[in-house]
Amino acid sequence: MSKYLVTAALPYANGPVHIGHLAGCYLPADIYVRYLRLKGEEVKFICGSDEHGVPITIKARKEGITPQQVVDKYHAMMKNAFADFGISFDIYSRTSSPVHHQTSAAFFKDLYEKNIFTEEITEQFYDEEAKQFLADRYITGTCPKCGNENAYGDQCENCGSSLNATDLINPKSTLSGSAPVLRKTKNWFLPLEKYQDQLSDWIKSKKDTWKINVYGQCNSWLNDGLRPRAMTRDLDWGVKVPLPGAEGKVLYVWFDAPIGYISATKELLPNDWEKYWKQQPDKKDNAKLIHFIGKDNIVFHCLIFPAMLMAQGEYILPENVPANEFLNLEGEKISTSRNWAVWLHEYLQDFPGREDELRYVLTSIAPETKDSDFSWKDYQARVNNELVSILGNFVNRVIVLTHKFYDGKTPPQGTLTDADAQLLKTAKVKGGEITSLLESYRFRDALFEFMNVARAGNKYLTETEPWKIYKENPTRVATILNTCLQFSASLAFLAKPFLPHFADNVLSLLKLNDYNNFNKIGAQDFLNEGHTIQPARHLFSPVNDEEIEKQIEKLNKSKLQNTPTNSVAENQKPETGNFKPETSFEDFSKLDLRIATILTAEKVEKADKLLKLTLDTGLDQRTVVSGIAQYFKPEDIIGKQVTLLANLAPRKIKGIESKGMILMASNEKGELCFVSPADHFSNGSTIS
Ligand code: 2FM
Ligand code: ZN
Repeated sequence: MSKYLVTAALPYANGPVHIGHLAGCYLPADIYVRYLRLKGEEVKFICGSDEHGVPITIKARKEGITPQQVVDKYHAMMKNAFADFGISFDIYSRTSSPVHHQTSAAFFKDLYEKNIFTEEITEQFYDEEAKQFLADRYITGTCPKCGNENAYGDQCENCGSSLNATDLINPKSTLSGSAPVLRKTKNWFLPLEKYQDQLSDWIKSKKDTWKINVYGQCNSWLNDGLRPRAMTRDLDWGVKVPLPGAEGKVLYVWFDAPIGYISATKELLPNDWEKYWKQQPDKKDNAKLIHFIGKDNIVFHCLIFPAMLMAQGEYILPENVPANEFLNLEGEKISTSRNWAVWLHEYLQDFPGREDELRYVLTSIAPETKDSDFSWKDYQARVNNELVSILGNFVNRVIVLTHKFYDGKTPPQGTLTDADAQLLKTAKVKGGEITSLLESYRFRDALFEFMNVARAGNKYLTETEPWKIYKENPTRVATILNTCLQFSASLAFLAKPFLPHFADNVLSLLKLNDYNNFNKIGAQDFLNEGHTIQPARHLFSPVNDEEIEKQIEKLNKSKLQNTPTNSVAENQKPETGNFKPETSFEDFSKLDLRIATILTAEKVEKADKLLKLTLDTGLDQRTVVSGIAQYFKPEDIIGKQVTLLANLAPRKIKGIESKGMILMASNEKGELCFVSPADHFSNGSTIS
């Protein structure tokens, strides 16, 4: 038996959790942990909310509440969402807890006393009105590369360049609007370059066991050469730097967050936590530390945190960091600010009791080796064609037949034929394959093999047709159903890592105790003769078209809400103060822009922002839905000439097919006006 410490990235407590989080990190971690528990390993599964960092202070300022109120709200929401989906943490803690503040401050102090840090005085922007140093995100100014006037101190979102706040032209504090001044400040740096060789050797030793994307990213950082990184910040939200003369400074959020794993373990096991974290006198007693994360966290978990642990000297290093890529939604990047996401709490309101369905679909499409895509139609197809038709159907048929022919009692086993033995063997062999896939973090493939086990069961039932032969050969039917019941038990145990609710339901239908039994997969003695089972009840129900359309409509609504003029999507919309990046004439000439006249205009029911317009384009009359209802009354715009993008792909908005889009000008105050010809001009005239 080994000791495992499995961690899942501590999510920032500045928003609820969505399907991307679940697919990328928490589900694979949970499947792995559930599997280890089934094997009988000693495992602790650690997570909690990451409650520090600048984005939380920005959110608080925006909402007019304190950072503590922000994190209290989202900590509770995230904790509940994870519990609802059966993510089986042993502890879900938070980094604002006293034990975390104490633990991370002590870790810092320890490194300080070991003379690990270098002290550096640098010049940082300071807001003299707000009387505080400014984090990069609190500074805006003109991007030196593209001229965007609203670039942030760390990045220009227009041209994508990463910046230093001091690169900005005319920097401005977002707190007071005043021009910040440079002021000297002392911070403590971790000299990562001193650990370059040690880290390099260690990473090399992982070549054969780590995922290629993780290994590759580490090497690329190492090849670039590691540089010192500040471990403290001039900020008032976080863990106070425990040194004299460090008032107004806190630990860098990426210094304290991974220590959150340690403090949560301490909270869980006040007396035993060191057995999981520290090197043991006999190396073989060391715990195995596995970090589940998303790809944006690789450098912190594979280089910076290990360097901190190496510097401290007593801790173990991660055994593996199986980072995933990202999940997209309906072909687009998930975005919290654009509300382009499926939020877990909303999913459960719309699909109560269907936690395993989402677990199943997200594991089937997990972004293990490259970015992947979630779509509602695919969700529906997988639930209906796989969970309902294959898995649920098999177990259901077995239970119904047992009740029909044997009054719900396990029939005698009799003598197994080759086909019966073969079925049980399939469970055993596949169990072995699933085990090795899980051991190598290939959860998608493992789930696929699990479904193959269920497929084998369905095939067996279809081939043996017990319902047809009962009259002539009841003894044979007894053996068939006994085999199917034993096989269903194996199926339930195999399902446990992936579909815990389904597994529990099947075990309760079979009236079997829930015990850890991965090694017994394929056995023929889970149920004794005469063992009574429960009457059948539905395990999975089909997802119907209306449910899916409702979800798609919800997403379309987010899209509309983020397209106030129904013209250009927010993420592509240029700020009024700067130009969009260059485009080619060829691309421009693909647009078919025409003059058209509004013939009719009316409000769209249950949509505050939308008007349904009929346009005369000179070539046809067509319907266009436009998000301008809050700016114009329908009766005021009839007869108006407008510019129409005529060849935009049609799309359904609130059930109305909209063909094309009218162009609107918007100014910096957000006001709109039509783009119309200066003089009346014939409909259908082209614009180029
Ligand atoms: O990317 C994130 O959401 C971070 N809050 C992850 C932190 S993981 C760990 F180090 F705590
Ligand atoms: Zn720029």
